[in-house]
Amino acid sequence: MIIGAGPAGLLLGQLLHEAGIENVIVERQSAQYVLGRVRAGVLERTTVGLLERAQVAARLHSEGHVHDGIGLAFDGVLHRLDLRALTGHGVTVYGQTEVTRDLMNARTAAGCVSVYEAAHVSVHDFDGDRPFVRYTHAGQEHELHGDFIAGCDGFHGVSRASVPSAAIRTFERVFPLGWLGVLAHVPPCHPELVYASHERGFALCSQRTPTLSRYYIQVPAGAQLSQWPDTAFWDELRRRLPTDVADAVITGPAAEKSVTPLRSFVAEPMRFGRLLLAGDAAHIVPPTGAKGLNLAASDVCYLAAAVREYCCEGSSAALDAYSSRCLERVWGAVRFSCWLSALLHRFPDTTPFDRRLQSAELDHVVRSRAASTALAESYVGLPLEI
Ligand code: FAD
Ligand code: DHB
Repeated sequence: MIIGAGPAGLLLGQLLHEAGIENVIVERQSAQYVLGRVRAGVLERTTVGLLERAQVAARLHSEGHVHDGIGLAFDGVLHRLDLRALTGHGVTVYGQTEVTRDLMNARTAAGCVSVYEAAHVSVHDFDGDRPFVRYTHAGQEHELHGDFIAGCDGFHGVSRASVPSAAIRTFERVFPLGWLGVLAHVPPCHPELVYASHERGFALCSQRTPTLSRYYIQVPAGAQLSQWPDTAFWDELRRRLPTDVADAVITGPAAEKSVTPLRSFVAEPMRFGRLLLAGDAAHIVPPTGAKGLNLAASDVCYLAAAVREYCCEGSSAALDAYSSRCLERVWGAVRFSCWLSALLHRFPDTTPFDRRLQSAELDHVVRSRAASTALAESYVGLPLEI
């Protein structure tokens, strides 16, 4: 039983299906709603490998774009980090909505059961041998029984919230700022992603396709969309970019616009008897490092392997190791994402000393091959040990 049809739930469903293990997904929203959420865009090679293993990578390979480098802009100058030269790997730019669409299509083709628009979803008896899930659909109450419940229902889901508070420990840092994101049907301003640190705040130029761009700017916590008409967004974005990059920005009406708070959150452990949390249900990283979706993928890789080992070999060893294996990777991603966020953003309490320190760190990152390599290694992602 899988709660949530985000990337974590859908990929888990597909990996289990490939292993011959029956599973049902229960999702609160409609499939259209899930597909309408614009989020991640950068996939590590390990995530691409998992999507290949799940037999859902054909469109990713034909329509996704491999990027061998990223831009780092500060003090009006654009520097290039050659990810491939530094690490031997690049990243794939392919939207989360498309990953989700591919997974949904594969699930339909495989005939696996998904219940969308399920209300009052609740999880029960996961501390015993016979856990079950209850929900209401089209006005009727249903109960699902199975071996395990996978809580893939995101940060605001019911799974983590159902764990007794004495059994869980949480760690959180809320940054006093957010990201305002705009998706627009215009060509990207630069062939690669550009992460820009500017005295007015951070900006990110990302992309989906040669005709679809995704841009973000740092805004104060609590900023409202009504404060940001399209023209104000484009003007502010351009101010934060080096002149040649700003001049190449083509503006257009926002096809989507949203504000995301910046936070870091980790729940420990990630397993409670027969309830296993995965993805944003267990942890949130600030988006700067592009790690959230990739962590969701690595969690479900470990989870699918553990369930397979239990069902096919009768061993609980991988289930017992699930939480600690995931958390090692999670804290690595938290470290990188918080470090990169601190490096690139302006905070309300940034002092002149902090500014000088940020500048020195940025210089160090682009001048020292060792420092560039450390950034690149984390950005492209470490191999998955399975
Ligand atoms: P979700 O995508 O949140 O899915 C959870 C699902 O559970 C949802 O469909 C929800 O409707 C459902 N649900 C919730 N409650 C219930 C309930 N009670 N019952 C049933 N269903 C329920 N990550 C990257 O790796 N790279 C990036 O470039 C990147 N950029 C990002 C940019 C932005 C602006 C944002 C916001 C995020 C970004 N991320 C990025 C993070 C990434 O989008 C998330 O980490 C990812 O969506 C996590 O997937 P998930 O399946 O765990 O959770
Ligand atoms: C995107 C999001 C990120 O958080 C990031 O670091 C890079 C790209 C994106 O949505 O394209």
